[in-house]
Amino acid sequence: MHIHILSLFPNMFNGPFGESIVKRAIDRGLVEIAIHNIRDYTSDRHHVVDDYPYGGGQGMVLKPEPIFEAVESIKGEGGECGESEKGESEIPVILLTPQGRLFHQRAAGELAKYNEIILICGHYEGVDERVREHLVTDEISIGDYVLSGGELAAMVVVDAVVRQLPGALGAEGAVSEDSHSSGLLEYPQYTRPQAFRGWEVPQVLLSGNHAEIARWRREQSIWRTLERRPDLLGRADLSPQERRLLEKMKRGED
Ligand code: 6GU
Repeated sequence: MHIHILSLFPNMFNGPFGESIVKRAIDRGLVEIAIHNIRDYTSDRHHVVDDYPYGGGQGMVLKPEPIFEAVESIKGEGGECGESEKGESEIPVILLTPQGRLFHQRAAGELAKYNEIILICGHYEGVDERVREHLVTDEISIGDYVLSGGELAAMVVVDAVVRQLPGALGAEGAVSEDSHSSGLLEYPQYTRPQAFRGWEVPQVLLSGNHAEIARWRREQSIWRTLERRPDLLGRADLSPQERRLLEKMKRGED
């Protein structure tokens, strides 16, 4: 997979992409991440990327020309046609902005199917609207709060996407085990020692009875989701039996 990131602050990405799962995915050749400095795509002598808003108001607005230049140059050099597993040839051009649709696990899975994606990090008071209207195919927000720029959001999106690429997770486990993958939060995890400061690991996990353990974990996931994120339960992947269990939990019978 090829991920292109357009940013005014390319150095911000050095830390997060140089460690852990993303680094290993890069080293294994599963993903290539190219950071492009928007300033490199200006054509004026002073490399101006922003300007005052028409109509007046606070702050600066990112100019359209360098962003269009950057995206068109990236698309132009694409060796592969960008054909994806979905059979779409359109490369997603995604603007990171608090005005975008809320990012979640399913969206990460959808993005992971593409051969190539382009992420644009917004900044300042915003981006010239013509970028939205005529260049961008999608807008993503990572939550209902305002960040100083799209960079941290792009890092979040890249991490969530890359860990879904086949082969990205080694001993760390499987994506299917992650919180949210079935629409439920993850069950509690324990490791040695069996007793720590007098607190014991739940007996069922020591039983060696794999069916029992799976059932306990599933129940814990459902219970935890009910307590912490009941909003997720409507869409969660539950069997009819689990739905009945959930109703009992809600009535306080469990
Ligand atoms: Cl994608 N960008 C900015 N600037 N702030 C955000 C965000 C994105 N998502 C949540 N807050």
